[in-house]
Amino acid sequence: MHSHSNRKRDHIDICLGPDIEHASSSGFDGYQFVHVALPEIDFEDIELQVDFLGHTISAPLFISGMTGGITDAVSINGELAELCSDMNIPFVLGSQRSMLHDRASDESFTIARRRAPNGLISANIGATEIACKEDHPRILAIIDRIEANFLTIHANPLQELFQPEGNTKFSGVLRGIEQIRERTEIPIIVKEVGSGISLDVAKKLHDIGVDAIDVAGKGGTSWSAVEMKRNQSEFSEYFREWGMPTSYCLLSLREYCGTVGMSMMSSGGIRNTHDIAMSIAMGAKAVGMARPILLAYHENGIQAVQALLEDHMKNLKRIMFLTGSKHCNQLSNAMFRKI
Ligand SMILES: Cc1cc2nc3c(=O)[nH]c(=O)nc-3n(C[C@H](O)[C@H](O)[C@H](O)COP(=O)(O)O)c2cc1C
Repeated sequence: MHSHSNRKRDHIDICLGPDIEHASSSGFDGYQFVHVALPEIDFEDIELQVDFLGHTISAPLFISGMTGGITDAVSINGELAELCSDMNIPFVLGSQRSMLHDRASDESFTIARRRAPNGLISANIGATEIACKEDHPRILAIIDRIEANFLTIHANPLQELFQPEGNTKFSGVLRGIEQIRERTEIPIIVKEVGSGISLDVAKKLHDIGVDAIDVAGKGGTSWSAVEMKRNQSEFSEYFREWGMPTSYCLLSLREYCGTVGMSMMSSGGIRNTHDIAMSIAMGAKAVGMARPILLAYHENGIQAVQALLEDHMKNLKRIMFLTGSKHCNQLSNAMFRKI
């Protein structure tokens, strides 16, 4: 039997290695912006700030949930939370499942709030934990212990299927989310982990009061590939590549989310500034990365993560200039074509 901390350690080690991304991309490379030869704006006036779930953030970016519950996560979560707070962008913690039953793992999560007292921090818990009503008081308590600004719930049926110790009891998840919705005021975000969220699922989530969908589609880290590395006898090319590309998810949800006023977030295979800008043009409010952040952190520490994010901000402004977008909400209306 693998413990939670062994699993989280394995995930980091495997994600730092090769061959765990989907074979095909998140799909943004299949689209090109229409170039605006007369932008009618001054480059220096371009602003990246956006309204996001009741807060004004300085750029349409966030760091996706990764880790917690292991010793290494204390420095990773502490440093990432502080950087995000300094940059005024949201930071999502990794799954807080271990906090439900083990106070010893608290430090790797509570450090985020201590290092970022004013930061925008999201709690994170799995769909299968939410399905279990007896855990609700503990889930509410771990949200409070980090004074979370948002709650992210990850739905990961493919990963659970291939995880050696996976939990595939997904009945009652919607009801569980609805009950948690009734008991907390903070915005609730539901995400996948790399297989994407469909229109039908987004509608069900909106109907029970979920505030935002992070589509977390295919094209980056494949969580079935990660779990298959932990259990090599289960290898299957078909399931390794299962899922819907991030760009496809955004385009499928865009109209509905716009009509009902549900925020859409983009993640899963965001690998360059074009992916970020195209996500916004396809309707996303904010765009997140996981593995690229982990790789940068491993390579050269928190400075490398900061440089990566700043580089994206610089290039995002350039794309905004060339599409005549002074603000991100104008980039949302930028024209693009399939290539
Ligand atoms: C090392 C690592 C650990 C992760 N752990 C979690 C987690 O605990 N909870 C979660 O919601 N997502 C987790 N994820 C998934 C990411 O948040 C993201 O949805 C997914 O990796 C796709 O994004 P990417 O292609 O940018 O990596 C993890 C990702 C990485 C790289």
